[in-house]
Amino acid sequence: MRPSLLPFIQQRGLKISRAEGQYVWDQEGRRYLDFYMGYGAAFLGHRHPKIVEALKEQLSKFMTVTPAFETDVREKCLDLLGEILPVHLDMVYFLNSGSEANELALKIARKITGRKKILAFINSFHGRTLATLGVTWNPKYREGFDPFPYEATFTPYNNVEAVEKALNEEYAAVIVEPVQGEGGIIPSTPEFLKALERKCRECGALLIVDEVQTGFGRTGYIWAHQKAGIRPDIMVAGKAVGGGFPVSFVAVSGEVGENLKEGDHGSTYGGNPLALAAVSAAVEVLISENIPAQAMEKGSALSEALKTVLEENGKIFRGLRSEGLMIGMDMRSTPGPFIRLLQSKGLLAFKAGLTVLRFLPPYLITERDIVDAAEILRNAASEYEVRA
Ligand SMILES: Cc1ncc(COP(=O)(O)O)c(C=O)c1O
Repeated sequence: MRPSLLPFIQQRGLKISRAEGQYVWDQEGRRYLDFYMGYGAAFLGHRHPKIVEALKEQLSKFMTVTPAFETDVREKCLDLLGEILPVHLDMVYFLNSGSEANELALKIARKITGRKKILAFINSFHGRTLATLGVTWNPKYREGFDPFPYEATFTPYNNVEAVEKALNEEYAAVIVEPVQGEGGIIPSTPEFLKALERKCRECGALLIVDEVQTGFGRTGYIWAHQKAGIRPDIMVAGKAVGGGFPVSFVAVSGEVGENLKEGDHGSTYGGNPLALAAVSAAVEVLISENIPAQAMEKGSALSEALKTVLEENGKIFRGLRSEGLMIGMDMRSTPGPFIRLLQSKGLLAFKAGLTVLRFLPPYLITERDIVDAAEILRNAASEYEVRA
């Protein structure tokens, strides 16, 4: 019998037949402006020619070689990562998804400190495996899955005082997103990140920065935490780093890395040649196209355009938060019906938190796309108000 999918993901009622750049097409040939982009993974656009070319080239050589063997594709990837990683994070390990990489970061913190507690934040999201779920805040995702391997404490995001009170020598690590994505597009303040760094040093806890959604230029910095000038002990990257191909990595400082040994971790597909070819091509695009600068500029143009619609529709929208091309519009109601309306008008977006309409557009959006997105939003808002 033909199996059906487990019901974890609500279906969007749209069958995609083609995708290119910032657009996808349905079976009838209808085009959609995609600000959903595979939960942000396709930040370089769908099928970026450089990514496709690198994958094809690698496919013609070999695709199943484990990290036990040396390869040119790995050498090249490490050389290129050396160009964009914070200089003190000089050891990496490749995995396949954001959750897996966060899982390794948490394992490392346990191993290095011998401690069991983790400090995380209200509205955090770090993944769906047991350890990462244990440091993910949303009770809806956690329900029925405890006990978790870590004892997590959740304090309010951007609240230095709460961290000062909670963090002590029993904690292995603090894990933080520089901008909370799934939790509602909530940017951190530089003071908050700086205080985390200071307090971690004081207590001997490791600072883990989860850049799975924020990293690779999206917020206007290669890594979003760089805005605050902090030096995390561990950084976790995923989504955009493979240009849409599944790959993630953990980057650690030498002091952390030198305390780890053979056998501490492993993965059959982690660091497979296709993934590494994709990362190399993605880094080349990031550098040659100066993606952080583009994200900063286009992000502020798009936010401005959306703000105009927000101001005209105060009954629907409450506010807008953004950091580069990571944009959330806070709605006065649950965004599901509005997201469906946008989709029916040719714009793909998705939800964050309980009330936030989330846009994760690719860096290559044009002025025309920005005008079109605002127009679709405006039309949807006027129809929505009539219906509501
Ligand atoms: C900040 C953050 N961490 C971790 C994850 C989990 O990544 P993945 O879905 O690739 O396992 C996500 C996914 O949305 C994320 O936004």
